[in-house]
Amino acid sequence: MRLPANYNTLETPYYFYDIELLNSTIEAALKACSYNNFRIHYAMKANANSEILKTINRHNIGIDCVSGNELKKALKCGFNSSDIVFAGVGKNDNEIRLAINSNIHAINVESEEELEVINTISGELNKVTDIALRVNPDIDAGTHKHITTGTNHNKFGISIPDIHRIAECSYRFKNVKIIGLHFHIGSQIDGMDTFVAMCNTINNVQSNLLNKGIVFKHLNVGGGLGIDYNNPDRNPIVDFNNYFDVFRKYLNYPHKQTVHFELGRSITGQCGSLITKVLYTKSTSRKRFAIVDAGMTDLIRPALYNAYHKIENITSTAIKLRYDVVGPICESSDCFGKNALMPETKRGDILCIRSVGAYGQVMSSQYNLREPARAYYSDMIETINHR
Ligand SMILES: Cc1ncc(COP(=O)(O)O)c(C=O)c1O
Repeated sequence: MRLPANYNTLETPYYFYDIELLNSTIEAALKACSYNNFRIHYAMKANANSEILKTINRHNIGIDCVSGNELKKALKCGFNSSDIVFAGVGKNDNEIRLAINSNIHAINVESEEELEVINTISGELNKVTDIALRVNPDIDAGTHKHITTGTNHNKFGISIPDIHRIAECSYRFKNVKIIGLHFHIGSQIDGMDTFVAMCNTINNVQSNLLNKGIVFKHLNVGGGLGIDYNNPDRNPIVDFNNYFDVFRKYLNYPHKQTVHFELGRSITGQCGSLITKVLYTKSTSRKRFAIVDAGMTDLIRPALYNAYHKIENITSTAIKLRYDVVGPICESSDCFGKNALMPETKRGDILCIRSVGAYGQVMSSQYNLREPARAYYSDMIETINHR
C-alpha cells in the first residue's frame, strides 16, 4: 500500500490517491477492452476530483455524467464533448439545454415524458439531438437494494414493451435521433452471471427490434463491475479480461454497432484511502471502540449501504483486538467498521480505511458544519510503500 511519506504529520482526516495505481488500472481496462467496437466511459459520479479526471482524460477515454455540473466539469477537464454521455432519471430543463448545446455523444433518456421534453427543447434550439433510450430490463443484480437499478421496482429506465412502442413511432420526435439503447443494472456486481443475464436480455430486445427493421448504431451496457473490498492488496485491479470476455462471448450486436461501457468503481475504487487519526478509545461491557476524527460526512458508504471497508492501523503492531471504529458525528450509524480486527489501538494512532476511491469523497457532506477532508495525490507528494 502506497502512502504519503509524511502520512502521520499531515492534518487528518484526508484522502490519499495512488495515481500510479489509477493509471495501471485504466491501462489494464483499456488492454482488456481493446476489441473492435468497445469503448469505455468513466462514470464520473464515482469520483469527480479534478486531478482524478485529468489523469483519466490522459488515457483518452470517454465520460459518463449524471448532472449538468458534472457535464460542465468534464468539459472543463478536457473531455471531448463527443465522448460524453449524460444519464439521470430527473434532468431539469437547464441541464437538458446544456447537454443539447454541448453536442455530446448521447443523452440517455429515462422516460417517455423526458423524451418529449428533450424533443421540444431541441426544437426550440433548432437542433436534432442524439439520444439513447435507457431500458429497464427487470434484472435483479443481487447487490444492496440501494444500488440495484435494473428491476421494475426501480425508478430507472423505460420498460421493454414501452421501448418497442417508442422505437416504432420514433418519427413522432422530429428533433431527436434515437442512436442507441442504454442499460445499467446496478453497482458492485461480483458475479459474471448477472452480466450474462443482461447480455441475454439485450440480445432479445435487439433481435426483436431487428425483426421490425430497427437497428441502432450504439449500445451502452452501463457499469457495475465490483471490486475486492476484502483484499485490496491482493486484488488492486479487477479482472477486466474476465469482465469484457463476458460481453465478447454472450453479447450479439450487429456489425459496426459500438458497445459503450460506463465503469466507475472498478476504475477509481482501489486507488483511494481515507487516513484518519484515533481521537479516543473506550470500552463498554460489550464493545471496544476506536473513535476517529473522520466521520460519515467524509465517507458515508458504511452508513448508507452497510458497506465493508478494510481498516488498518498503520502505526501499531501490537496484538490484535476487535474494535468498532466510529466517527465523531452524533449518529449511531457513524461507524466505519464493526468488530474490526486491528493491532491494539491508542489515541494518536493512524488508521487507513481502504478502497474508498469510488463513492467516497464525492459523497461527502458538511453535516455538523464539518470541514471537508483534503485530498493528496501520489504524483504530487513524496510517497512510501507501507509494509
Ligand atoms: C447510469 C450509470 N452508469 C454507470 C454507473 C457506474 O457504476 P459503477 O461505479 O458500479 O461501475 C452508474 C452508477 O451507479 C450509473 O448510475
